[in-house]
Amino acid sequence: MKPPIMSLVTALTPGLDVTVLGLADSAGSPVTVGAPEALAAEVAKRYGAPLEVLATRVGASTKPGSTAVLPGPSGLLVLTALGDADVTPDRVRRAAALGVRRALEASGDKSVTIGVSLDTNDPEVLSAAAEGALLGAYRYSKPGLGKAAASASSIDIVGPRTAADALATAKATAEAVWLARDWVNTPPNVLYPETFAESARNELKGLRVDVEVLDEKALAKGGFGGILTVGGGSARPPRLVKASWAPRGAKAHLVLVGKGLTFDSGGLNLKPAEGMINMKCDMGGAAAVLAAIKAIAQLGLRVKVTVLAGMAENMPSSTAFRPSDVLTMHSGKTVENTNSDAEGRLVLADALSLAGQLAPDLIIDIATLTGACQIALGDRTAGLMASDDDVADTVLDAAEMAGEAFWQLPIPEEMAEHLKSDVADLKSTGPRPGGALTAAAFLREFVPEGTPWAHLDIAGPAWADKPYDYVSKGGTGVGVRTLVALARSLAR
Ligand code: BES
Ligand code: MN
Ligand code: ZN
Repeated sequence: MKPPIMSLVTALTPGLDVTVLGLADSAGSPVTVGAPEALAAEVAKRYGAPLEVLATRVGASTKPGSTAVLPGPSGLLVLTALGDADVTPDRVRRAAALGVRRALEASGDKSVTIGVSLDTNDPEVLSAAAEGALLGAYRYSKPGLGKAAASASSIDIVGPRTAADALATAKATAEAVWLARDWVNTPPNVLYPETFAESARNELKGLRVDVEVLDEKALAKGGFGGILTVGGGSARPPRLVKASWAPRGAKAHLVLVGKGLTFDSGGLNLKPAEGMINMKCDMGGAAAVLAAIKAIAQLGLRVKVTVLAGMAENMPSSTAFRPSDVLTMHSGKTVENTNSDAEGRLVLADALSLAGQLAPDLIIDIATLTGACQIALGDRTAGLMASDDDVADTVLDAAEMAGEAFWQLPIPEEMAEHLKSDVADLKSTGPRPGGALTAAAFLREFVPEGTPWAHLDIAGPAWADKPYDYVSKGGTGVGVRTLVALARSLAR
């Protein structure tokens, strides 16, 4: 499904199917926010009470998270709670998303036009509202699959013309999140390394992004032992997608590395059924970096960005890699495979060592890497490990701007100790405790000494079992907003 057309308008046009307004708490009483006078007057005349009173009658509350639906003069009115006076961008992002989601739920299976009016002139708040509205409108559906659900054909946001740039940023960013979610949600018999790479090429067409796809032959020639070995168990061969955005006047070179396991069965160390069911999401990191570079190019950000997305399918077969196999990686280092379910780090390692050769100012990798990180931080917070605290702070600042939750974890010295092997330079896994940290220690071995690097483990938040806030069920597109925010901060 295509994202709705988003426009900045100075006033709501009449005849919209749904109008989303705010409901805020003002010294203990509810007040509507963003309601045009004429609309408020018309509603009051028709139903004999002011909007606030009608809203309270249908159970509306000003508590963030609550929404209410009322009949309007034409179409529906949705009131979304904004809480008290302290309106933060993230609260508005959530409120707009919940308002739009409620609007779609109330619209049966129609395609609707939506207007969002939250009475703000602050570009930052407005862009959060726009982002939230678009993210809340997301649904995954392919023609012919499942029953039709309501969708938004357009979303108009009320704001001043001076907010046009902020709105453009919100639009490109949210559309990139849509793209990442679509990629993650596409079933793995449809999206596999070859088709994922082709789809990425298509999405980046016409944007002055140079796209190069290394197939299995090119990977062999280039010595990508990690990617080839992991992909070797599948009849669907691996790919490495390299995408570069190199605008004139770029100040820094950011290299984004993504884990693109289109399906992770665990390989010969086969996952149990309950651990395998959502493993089409194991390409969420690759989806995030490829979607992010699309937004970065659309916005024309003056920062050089190279994406390296390692794509493979981890399957058990007679050509699958074995526990105790020794791999020769792209960097030349040898790795003893101790668990074929620890495949992501092998794919990332090859991409990281290539990244290190590109004269980067900063390397960020993003991956659904460890169940341990999900156990540690839960389903909504991603882990962040970095070469040093300055790099970690740079990423955390971008994440905060974007409204995504990351939490820094350490890479303790003893982790390297756990990775010593008798037969190779490194083992691929250590003991179970601290599994997210050992994985980071492993990756660090493939980043050139002195190169600023951060590793984002999104195993928890890449997938949502049920929708919440502006997050839809299924693939979440986590990381896209932080990566775009980071690129924006480097382009300044
Ligand atoms: N793709 C998984 C990690 C994962 C788990 C992502 C849950 C999303 C949700 C990864 O390849 C994996 O299997 N990691 C192993 C590593 C272990 C064998 C050292 C894990 O976490 O169990
Ligand atoms: Mn695995
Ligand atoms: Zn995996």
